[in-house]
Amino acid sequence: MTYFRADEPQIIQVIRIILEVIWTIVLLHYELTKAFVKWTVPQEPKDVSEDVILITGAGHGMGREVALRFGRLGARVVCVDINDKGNEETLNMITEEKGRAYTYQCDVTNRDAVFALAEKVTSEVGEVTILVNNAGIMPCKPILKHSEKEIRTLVDINVNGNLWMIQAFLPAMLERNCGHIVAMSSMAGKMGLRNLVPYCGTKYAVRGIMESLAMELHEDPRDTNGIKLTTICPYIVNTGLCTNPRIRFPSLMKVVDPGEAADQIVDAIRKEYHEITIPSDLYYTNKIYNLLPVGAAKLMTDFIGTGLDPQ
Ligand SMILES: NC(=O)c1ccc[n+]([C@@H]2O[C@H](COP(=O)([O-])OP(=O)(O)OC[C@H]3O[C@@H](n4cnc5c(N)ncnc54)[C@H](O)[C@@H]3O)[C@@H](O)[C@H]2O)c1
Repeated sequence: MTYFRADEPQIIQVIRIILEVIWTIVLLHYELTKAFVKWTVPQEPKDVSEDVILITGAGHGMGREVALRFGRLGARVVCVDINDKGNEETLNMITEEKGRAYTYQCDVTNRDAVFALAEKVTSEVGEVTILVNNAGIMPCKPILKHSEKEIRTLVDINVNGNLWMIQAFLPAMLERNCGHIVAMSSMAGKMGLRNLVPYCGTKYAVRGIMESLAMELHEDPRDTNGIKLTTICPYIVNTGLCTNPRIRFPSLMKVVDPGEAADQIVDAIRKEYHEITIPSDLYYTNKIYNLLPVGAAKLMTDFIGTGLDPQ
């Protein structure tokens, strides 16, 4: 980027800005072509057999299913969960399939515990190369029915948990200019949904964290091109987290099986996608929806009639 110097003749400033505009247009075309090729040409998924993949919330649901798939691909899978029992079950499932897995109990809301975890995992298993910030909860009821404690816990797990994990694991990735951070947002992080006011807030926050992290890495003077970021936005996945889904048109907005969701998550990580939705068609549907005026968007929401009823 060009910054003008006060002592520079105006003609030089004009020439420099013209050159910069031309250069930006060239780079823009390069980036657009790259994105188009990535979009149209099938990508080769990366080999993860040498990776150390840490997954929070690996003791249940999508975290467990993702852990199982990475275990099958030969990665060393570090299962982290507050719930030891579920986490041990995941470990047993991976080792029964001859995979390599390790369990650590950790509450992601506890910053000191997260930093201690990073030290322990690094010395006992190795540097984490892929971090999957998946742990999350989803209380589902009208905003005025949430207690203060429920909201604070929700923000602590869904938002702060992500931040502590990034702060603990990013420095080693920066040192090696190598790593991949994955965040579990949601379609509730791309559109407002009733009965999920605080939850939507946390999932928008997760997307905000990932987008600003991408900008911070882009503007870092060090070479950070080796650090990849992926944000996952599922709609409704049948893990038990969403107890009362309401679906009017199942072919348009279906409830996805956790295994099917995990297949798409692992694929997105291995292909280093920036962001995916599950189901994938929602990616463009949502973009069109966001172009609508508020009244029209509400009308469409009423017609589609999909959402979550209170627990
Ligand atoms: N299930 C869905 O429909 C859906 C949709 C969109 C996004 N998501 C998001 O995907 C992620 C996983 O969802 P899921 O449905 O598999 O959930 P799940 O309830 O099946 O599993 C979540 C896991 O996180 C663990 N966990 C909770 N609090 C923790 C803490 N403080 N520290 C460490 N571990 C903790 C739980 O013990 C559990 O094993 C969540 O972030 C969720 O918000 C889920």
